[in-house]
Amino acid sequence: MVDFSANVKGMRSSEIRRLMKLTADPSVISFAAGMPANELFPVDVLDELYNGLSRSDKQIALQYSPTPGFPPLLESLKSYLQSRGLPFEKQGLIVTTGGQQAINLLTKVLIDPGDLIVTEYPSFIGAIAAFKSYSANLTSIALDNDGIDIDKLEKTIESRASQIKMLYLSPHFHNPAGIIYSEERKRALLKLLSGRRFCLLEDDPYGELYFNENDKPLTVPLKALAGESLPICYVGTFAKIFGPGLRLGWLLAPEPIIEKCELAKQSMDACSSTFTQVLAHQYLSRGKLAPYVAGLRPIYARRAKLMLDALEHSMPAGVSWTTPKGGFYVWVTLPPTIDSTEVLNRSMAQGAAFVIGSAFDPHGVRNDTLRLAFSHTPEDQIEKGIGIIAEAIKELM
Ligand SMILES: Cc1ncc(COP(=O)(O)O)c(C=O)c1O
Repeated sequence: MVDFSANVKGMRSSEIRRLMKLTADPSVISFAAGMPANELFPVDVLDELYNGLSRSDKQIALQYSPTPGFPPLLESLKSYLQSRGLPFEKQGLIVTTGGQQAINLLTKVLIDPGDLIVTEYPSFIGAIAAFKSYSANLTSIALDNDGIDIDKLEKTIESRASQIKMLYLSPHFHNPAGIIYSEERKRALLKLLSGRRFCLLEDDPYGELYFNENDKPLTVPLKALAGESLPICYVGTFAKIFGPGLRLGWLLAPEPIIEKCELAKQSMDACSSTFTQVLAHQYLSRGKLAPYVAGLRPIYARRAKLMLDALEHSMPAGVSWTTPKGGFYVWVTLPPTIDSTEVLNRSMAQGAAFVIGSAFDPHGVRNDTLRLAFSHTPEDQIEKGIGIIAEAIKELM
């Protein structure tokens, strides 16, 4: 057999691929996939944008583009990000092949094997996989309903300052925890980070997807609050505000970091799809984003409410869960003696799926938790699916 690299030997079999399989069986009510439902995609807008392209624009769309991005998209993206308060004075912007590539690029340019990355617990499975693929050491700090535990973070920073290279946080409608950082927690965090040498990777795929307009002020990015004062690397994506099939994300970060990311990207994929960048530029510059996400918000809010009502009706005492104000996810904590994998096996036998909590533990251990996504499940199946999972838990109690 071939001899694999040390990097690849360290990779766990992909939980994400397992999730995708769970969602493929139409007889299973799945809360597993953190993705939008197909029927919610803006296909009419897509038709309009494509049909509105001139012949020469269509030719450009089939051509390579510069590694940092299709220049008109970089401009329209800059205007959009500035409207969210993000700074641009000493920052560079690069278009990436999904938010996932932005996380991967940053890890590649900043992390040597053995460097320490501090994450939240729980944390996004794709980021954990990227960090591990560069042989980073991971340590995680628990989230509560308002964000990361600042005291524990401070202790970790004080005791391991010289090893820490990066802090990875996702402050808005967290995947998988479903929570949003409070304004106080954000302020305390920025105060704690002031003067530190390591980077904060702020991952923000869901910030636009608040349910209630009153909560919009909570979605101001940490990088917007910090301005130019901290080395924050801000990652975003079109995945949840247009479609993940575009495979387009971005990284806004201090210029020297972006320069290195550009070099790293050249050898990875040369450029992200020009075809989808042309469409994304039309989407932003013709003002299609705002009405589209405005239409999504009440739909996701309704799905979340159906899920929360079903949890309330069916879950036994001892089970708790987060109450999302946006995004796609509810995070459920089981009594400590109950193993999420056993719940999943029983639920699957009855036709309901979710993702076990250990997938979101950087150490892959803690498993008295599970993630439910409400974004993708038909509304008339939510109550039944939650009922199946609740019965499985009751059997194990
Ligand atoms: C927290 C988080 N970060 C990044 C991503 C990656 O997004 P993309 O599909 O743009 O690669 C996702 C996708 O689910 C996510 O939930």
